[in-house]
Amino acid sequence: MKYVIGNWKSNGRWEENARLLTRVRELPRPGVEVGVCVPFPYLAQAREALVGSAARFGAQNVSPFGAGAYTGEVHAEMLREFGCHYAIVGHSERRQYFGESDAVIADKIGRLVAVGITPIWCIGETLAERQAGKWQEVLARQVREVVERAGVDSVGHCLLAYEPVWAIGTGINAEPEDVEAAHAWVRSLLREVGVREHVPILYGGSVKSGNAHALFSVPGCDGGLIGGASLSADEFAAIAAAA
Ligand code: 13P
Repeated sequence: MKYVIGNWKSNGRWEENARLLTRVRELPRPGVEVGVCVPFPYLAQAREALVGSAARFGAQNVSPFGAGAYTGEVHAEMLREFGCHYAIVGHSERRQYFGESDAVIADKIGRLVAVGITPIWCIGETLAERQAGKWQEVLARQVREVVERAGVDSVGHCLLAYEPVWAIGTGINAEPEDVEAAHAWVRSLLREVGVREHVPILYGGSVKSGNAHALFSVPGCDGGLIGGASLSADEFAAIAAAA
């Protein structure tokens, strides 16, 4: 199975969304799961637009808490009621701008798995970390800390996304060799910490129609988490076709 999942980030407008979702409806194929993670206010629109299609939708965040006095938070049970299939956790933009720690990420994963939503768990090193030759160490820390707190069973229900921070929104995708090495390293870490399920590992970072086929052909790459290119129906359709 290959996964092609769009992360709209903080983008979208009702009418553009409607046009985009009409195309997204048609994209799933046997062996290719297609989904979109949309801003909270558009979850209802995505649900309605994708009714009767195999295309899935989800959120881009979730509260690490349950119901209660947590102003501004949206908890996992609410997302489940909406019919969300996924929720992204640990995206580098949330780590960078909102201080999301591995402990919080682990708690979010636990909340999601408890209600049957698939976490899309993002990990990845910064440019400085890669240049310092520390990418393996960084990925190992990100994986180990979450597994330790969330437990191997919860982690077994995730989709993992390897998103090198230097490739996100920069137009510079990781080279297929780098993706292969990183995915193999993450796969070996998951085995080492005792995750028995096959956790799909997606690549994210400047995936476009022009590089999708090369990236998705990398051994150990189970698909892509697509940012900017998921906002264009033609681009997203071409990426899904490449899968
Ligand atoms: P871009 O595809 O815009 O580089 O973003 C990748 C990403 O962050 C997906 O979550």
